Amino acid sequence: MKTNALGKHRPHLHFAPQNNWMNDPNGLVFFDGEYHLFYQYHPYSTIWGPMHWGHAVSKDLIEWEELDIALYPDKVGMIFSGSAVVDWENTTGFFPNEPGLVAIFTYHLDGKEGEEPNQTQAIAYSSDRGRTWKKYEGNPVLASESKIDFRDPKVFWYEQTNKWIMVLATGQTISFYSSPNLIDWEFESEFGEGIGLHHGVWECPDLFQLKVSESNEKKWVLFVSVGDNPDFETGSQTQYFIGEFDGQTFASDQDSSCLLDFGKDNYAGVSFSDIPEKDGRRIYLGWMSNWRYANEVPTNGWRSQMTLPRELSLQEIEGEYYVYQLPVKELESYFLNVALDEEMIYANGTRTFQIGKSYVNCSLSIERQDAAQLEIVLNHSNDQFTKIEIDYNNKEVRLVRKDSGIIDFSTNFISDQKVKIDNMTKLNFRIIIDSSSIELFINEGQYALTSLVYPDHPCESLSFNSMDGEVKLHNWYIGKPIQSESK
Ligand code: FRU
Repeated sequence: MKTNALGKHRPHLHFAPQNNWMNDPNGLVFFDGEYHLFYQYHPYSTIWGPMHWGHAVSKDLIEWEELDIALYPDKVGMIFSGSAVVDWENTTGFFPNEPGLVAIFTYHLDGKEGEEPNQTQAIAYSSDRGRTWKKYEGNPVLASESKIDFRDPKVFWYEQTNKWIMVLATGQTISFYSSPNLIDWEFESEFGEGIGLHHGVWECPDLFQLKVSESNEKKWVLFVSVGDNPDFETGSQTQYFIGEFDGQTFASDQDSSCLLDFGKDNYAGVSFSDIPEKDGRRIYLGWMSNWRYANEVPTNGWRSQMTLPRELSLQEIEGEYYVYQLPVKELESYFLNVALDEEMIYANGTRTFQIGKSYVNCSLSIERQDAAQLEIVLNHSNDQFTKIEIDYNNKEVRLVRKDSGIIDFSTNFISDQKVKIDNMTKLNFRIIIDSSSIELFINEGQYALTSLVYPDHPCESLSFNSMDGEVKLHNWYIGKPIQSESK
């Protein structure tokens, strides 16, 4: 929400650092009225390099204030991804007076010529609401004798055994460790061999429990990001598993995983720790980019932004469980929603609505009559547009960004982004357009499709093209910015 001084692609609703390179969200935690967002940060360049933890705070998850760098690399290594928790009961002994924050992160030390790098887990703590940090003198707290990829600790308190649990990416598996004090860690189990997506290294896991909607049942959800492998078209993406966790072992209910997002630009997503029980939400955000082209995206002076924070829920459909996600409700107060005609039928033709705003929130229900396809065209300018194609014959929704503006930095950027949907008779869409992103949520968050774009303008108008028949649109509104857009 800072000024647009650094270029037309700077987002209004999404967090992006003022300068230089950012990747994964780290240390997401709520404490003393503030949401903390730490992130992988290279303060001296717009490309990836020696990693620090950058830091921002927010009271409402939308407007962020960038603070000083929280953690700097040192002789033990760069500061790779990790998490943060509130040590309410002073299990560490670091907080004799008031509860404080503990960050659990990976040290990455490059190997000498011809040698493998070394990755270990370490901790740091803060007694002043995350403003300054002290690295624990006994670091590292966890090392591996055999694993090279050994990183991205996500830690939570498991009440039944009175222990902290660490979920760690270990090659192409997830390992679970436990500890009474965040310092002494014991191996519990390993999950992932022969199940899920394995085309890249596993990274940035998260494990948490969600209540199944309209039921008292609870399930455990395991997020696992899968790194980019140039031999595959997909780039980096995030999968999730649903199952049971007993403090030691995670067992998946299914024999495969699901994709968390069908767009290319949502990676390394993890959830906030310590959101108060009376709020009760599980909120996550991801890095809105893809390792395939992240270092090349055409922004000026800064690189990368986060997805909108999203509330997660769990739905049971015919005996299977699915993660749903929608932008947090705090976003609503940034828009003035204007309801459009109650119901409109489109038959073989185009209708266009002027928008001309720097960010937009649009919601509508789409009922098929007999059309073969409906195209929703986000016209960024006269000759730049992104198309959302609802293809009834092939039962899929595609987001096509080949004409969306700057695209020539990667051939992968314009390849398919699509989601297969069995029942397309009635669809509900929520589309959030910012200066350089489109986030599409289908059927109240059943499917998400997150996509970067680099047009000259966010959205001049929206057009609807119905092809070979009719569709009916209803329940729809366009939300325009409430606050001054110059912010
Ligand atoms: C994921 C990742 C992590 C690592 C970090 C380094 O995007 O590769 O596994 O900790 O980025 O910046």
